[in-house]
Amino acid sequence: MTATQIPTSPIAGQKAGTSGLRRKTRDFMAPHFLENYVQSILTAIGGAQGKRLVLGGDGRFFNDRAIQIILRMAAANGATEVIVGQNGILSTPAASHMIRMQKADGGFILSASHNPGGEDEDFGLKFNMANGGPATEALTDKILAQTQSITSYGMIDAPDVDLSVCGPATVGDMTVTVVESVTDYAALMETLFDFDAIAGLFAGGFTMRFDAMHAVTGPYAHALLEDRLGAPKGTVINGTPLPDFGGGHPDPNPIWAHELMGIMTGDNPPDFGAASDGDGDRNMIVGRGAYVTPSDSLALIAAHAHRAPGYGQGLAGVARSMPTSAAVDRVAAAKGIDCYETPTGWKFFGSLLDAGKVSLCGEESAGTGSGHVREKDGLWAVLMWLNIIAATGKSVSELMADHWATYGRNYYSRHDYEAVETDKANGLMDALRGKLAGLPGQTIAGLTVTMADEFAYDDPVDGSHTSGQGIRIGFEGDARVVFRLSGTGTQGATLRVYLELLELDPAKMDLPAEEALAAVISAADQIAGIKERTGRETPDVKT
Ligand code: G1P
Ligand code: ZN
Repeated sequence: MTATQIPTSPIAGQKAGTSGLRRKTRDFMAPHFLENYVQSILTAIGGAQGKRLVLGGDGRFFNDRAIQIILRMAAANGATEVIVGQNGILSTPAASHMIRMQKADGGFILSASHNPGGEDEDFGLKFNMANGGPATEALTDKILAQTQSITSYGMIDAPDVDLSVCGPATVGDMTVTVVESVTDYAALMETLFDFDAIAGLFAGGFTMRFDAMHAVTGPYAHALLEDRLGAPKGTVINGTPLPDFGGGHPDPNPIWAHELMGIMTGDNPPDFGAASDGDGDRNMIVGRGAYVTPSDSLALIAAHAHRAPGYGQGLAGVARSMPTSAAVDRVAAAKGIDCYETPTGWKFFGSLLDAGKVSLCGEESAGTGSGHVREKDGLWAVLMWLNIIAATGKSVSELMADHWATYGRNYYSRHDYEAVETDKANGLMDALRGKLAGLPGQTIAGLTVTMADEFAYDDPVDGSHTSGQGIRIGFEGDARVVFRLSGTGTQGATLRVYLELLELDPAKMDLPAEEALAAVISAADQIAGIKERTGRETPDVKT
């Protein structure tokens, strides 16, 4: 079978966002769209000749077709082997682990994460490098340049590979190795956590619900929580991955994981609730009457990670994305370890993890993870919480109350204004930029501005510089608002407003977040003119 070069020309709109390329599924299905992007990646990494790659996705609509196309293109480009998850399924953290374990040259992950799936919804593709982590900014730029100059792509004519059968197969001269999706990932988890202690918790009657949201973590959660740790059947709900996630929005937050929130706030709730997203890298943690913000979850894990066997030596350092609350900074300071503030997106944690500067990372967007892979990891976070609960004998609400009493509480909320007209969103950000220099010293909604800038980052390991990463305005009393435009949306612009306030008074630790943050919310609106400029009275989503 010989490879042919199919002529093509650049397609507009192939610029990757915060996490790979995300577009409407129908865009990806259009002639040459997927092929152009895949060829651009293969060319940007220096060609596929002689390389071994990993391939898998979250099972959303078009995954199956896209995988067969990528296999034929990899073969045409001279790859020696592609390792594929059974039925095309690999969660994002499992794919990251597979790349590392197999010492592969990189891998393709097919997912649009927490965005809905289906023919009329979203699809995505990202490339992870040999360290298992998302393509760096430098590689992302090279891929973009290829998409803008592409003239042809390689393809061979070969039948589809049966991905339901584990074992070796071939496409042209290339080996395709189909591997079971869960086993290796589950084995990795067993090296990190005290499975006996967690199993003891369940054996003692501890109850839990894990909502897989009809997305990729279903098989992983059934295997780990029910089969290995002995949680009763029924602990995992919505555990069958579906191409359209059952019509839901597989985003683990109180809005979209409403079924789980209903269970946790209903009669006779379980002790612990958790959820993960489309591709299994995000997590939500909730106790009886206690939703834990992702920023708080990161801080709590930083404080207690040493209780899990894989982290018994303590943490080398921690990192959080800039909009994430400073709760983890306070734990790092108390423990005397470094805390890094990076731009939004997991790709910025890779160099810090590779260099051993940090061993725990997190984002306010429900992402937490460690050096075990180079992606955030939803089930990892859930197992970490279970390990901490087993080791301390405390409930989620007791753990959080103790944490706040020790470190103070960073009240936190994110307000999203979705599908705003792009011009209006850019106008708002431009106007803010123009105001920054004059803000310090002004008092707005009773809060005095102490600093105002646009965040830029110099990577301390590879020296790369990244600018334009969100506008941050700090107020006296450790309050802060951050404005950023999303880099993962597929429609118009999403304005994210991140609100934060540190409370040290023990008498004020139990307020609803929106109440505690009222002055910050009002200052944010006055500074940015959100209502006037977007025409929106209220945010679409508050998390
Ligand atoms: C969002 C989150 C960000 C996360 C990314 C990928 O990006 O805010 O923290 O890394 O999804 O899961 P955004 O849409 O804000 O660019
Ligand atoms: Zn995700």
